[in-house]
Amino acid sequence: MLISPARTRPGLGLPLASLFRLLLLAVLSSPVSGRVPRSVPRTSLPSSEADSYLTRFTIPQTYNYSVLLVDPASHTLYVGARDTIFALSLPFSGERPRRIDWMVPEAHRQNCRKKGKKEAECHNFVQILAIANASHLLTCGTFAFDPKCGVIGGSSMLPL
Ligand SMILES: *[C@@H]1O[C@H](CO)[C@@H](O)[C@H](O)[C@H]1NC(C)=O
Ligand SMILES: *[C@@H]1O[C@H](CO)[C@@H](O)[C@H](O)[C@H]1NC(C)=O
Repeated sequence: MLISPARTRPGLGLPLASLFRLLLLAVLSSPVSGRVPRSVPRTSLPSSEADSYLTRFTIPQTYNYSVLLVDPASHTLYVGARDTIFALSLPFSGERPRRIDWMVPEAHRQNCRKKGKKEAECHNFVQILAIANASHLLTCGTFAFDPKCGVIGGSSMLPL
């Protein structure tokens, strides 16, 4: 026996196809404004409202948190800042973050200042964090106007 879309369901007086058309009509003709609230997803949230969902993280004397990377495999959030990279365990537990400092040597900083740059700019602003492989991270920083990249494995920084 052929099954046609107009086949009547047992106990239902209407063929399936016309029932569907009726439902569609009902949906299309329902009022769009007025009593029916429209649920438009929000794309932004005032910070006052977001506060209850946020965990704040800052380390004294550390500035310019500029780049974030989540490593889902190790449940770690990496944060690149000025002269430092932090590793925070996810979910946050209030545990102290691990850190690896990546400073510009003093001689290099002096050179930077001699070239007329401001002292505050002669730092290593970490700009790039990427997962290199299962055990290493790739990172790049401004390194006092002399950009450098390196790989981090465990707690050591190796030059590229
Ligand atoms: C770093 O942070 C300081 C203090 O918040 C700010 O004045 C400066 O503009 C920042 N620099 C960069 C390169 O983001
Ligand atoms: C990951 O990359 C680093 C740096 O290139 C390398 O020394 C290490 O052997 C690699 N590890 C794996 C598991 O591939």
